[in-house]
Amino acid sequence: MMSVFSFRDTRRSGASQLICMLLSVSLAVEIVGYKPVIIVHGLFDSSKELVDLTRLIKKSHPGTNVTVIDLFDYEASLKPMWEQVQGFKQAVLPILHKAVDGVHLICFSQGGLVCRGIVSTLPDHNIHSFISLSAPQGGQYGDTEYLKRAIPKFIKAHLYKFCYHYPGQKVAICNYWKDPHHIDQYVKGNTFLAVLNSERLNPSAAFWKKNFLRIKKLVLIGGPDDGVITPWQSSHFGFYDENEDVVEMKDQDVYVKDVFGLKTLDGRGDLVVCVFSGVKHTSWHANETVYHGCIDKWLT
Ligand SMILES: *[C@@H]1O[C@H](CO)[C@@H](O)[C@H](O)[C@H]1NC(C)=O
Ligand SMILES: *[C@@H]1O[C@H](CO)[C@@H](O)[C@H](O)[C@H]1NC(C)=O
Repeated sequence: MMSVFSFRDTRRSGASQLICMLLSVSLAVEIVGYKPVIIVHGLFDSSKELVDLTRLIKKSHPGTNVTVIDLFDYEASLKPMWEQVQGFKQAVLPILHKAVDGVHLICFSQGGLVCRGIVSTLPDHNIHSFISLSAPQGGQYGDTEYLKRAIPKFIKAHLYKFCYHYPGQKVAICNYWKDPHHIDQYVKGNTFLAVLNSERLNPSAAFWKKNFLRIKKLVLIGGPDDGVITPWQSSHFGFYDENEDVVEMKDQDVYVKDVFGLKTLDGRGDLVVCVFSGVKHTSWHANETVYHGCIDKWLT
């Protein structure tokens, strides 16, 4: 009954409506034209673990080209961080080149540090939002299920002995393992985080900072119930002092001395910090409250 009615009622205007609709659809695609989104997974993950996030993006921003880079999956995610930075960079480059209006990067957990490596070392990039989703940006010092899988009989107080000497730095976790009781050895032995932070001499620091500052927004997401990132404030560049008290980002040297651009970004109004409670580490990328609260709006 409905279809008969509408057929008789609007035959001609139906056609013009259709043209209007087609016009506005193509206009919408051109005007809105969501930037492509690239997702980088975390430790012991693969692209499969991020289908929920892809679904959320496509639902709120239809037509977005979302690429979850499928590299260094599962056990291969233990490969050294610089090797992963190189590998992911090669995969990301053709997407950046094709994207005239730039892209957004969402990087989960260890992937957040991979992305930091990419953003720091890639000149003239067109990455707009860099969304760091529960990533140990400040370092990691915690006894978690993840680490037990990687390093059996792991004891956090002793891991520095392995991590800060050959061949420890050949394992990704050691590249951001930061033992607050052995900072000297961390600075001497760590070849990744300590370099990104200029805690040990980085001759390219000024160049890396310039690259890093090309991003339009740095979005840091984390929360107290994460259970893996330790301390959880590391997701916002906070970290333990030698008494294992947490020093917040704004009191960290990397911020105060604006080592790689955090303070500049903040001054520009381009540093976004989001805290969510009640989210376990493996739930971040599937949580709609998190997505709508702190991811969605940075993907336009
Ligand atoms: C999505 O982006 C990738 C990488 O740039 C490209 O190869 C692919 O053709 C794009 N897909 C669509 C539907 O535009
Ligand atoms: C999703 O995030 C909200 C907001 O922080 C939290 O209350 C809720 O427990 C989370 N749900 C899951 C399944 O992680």
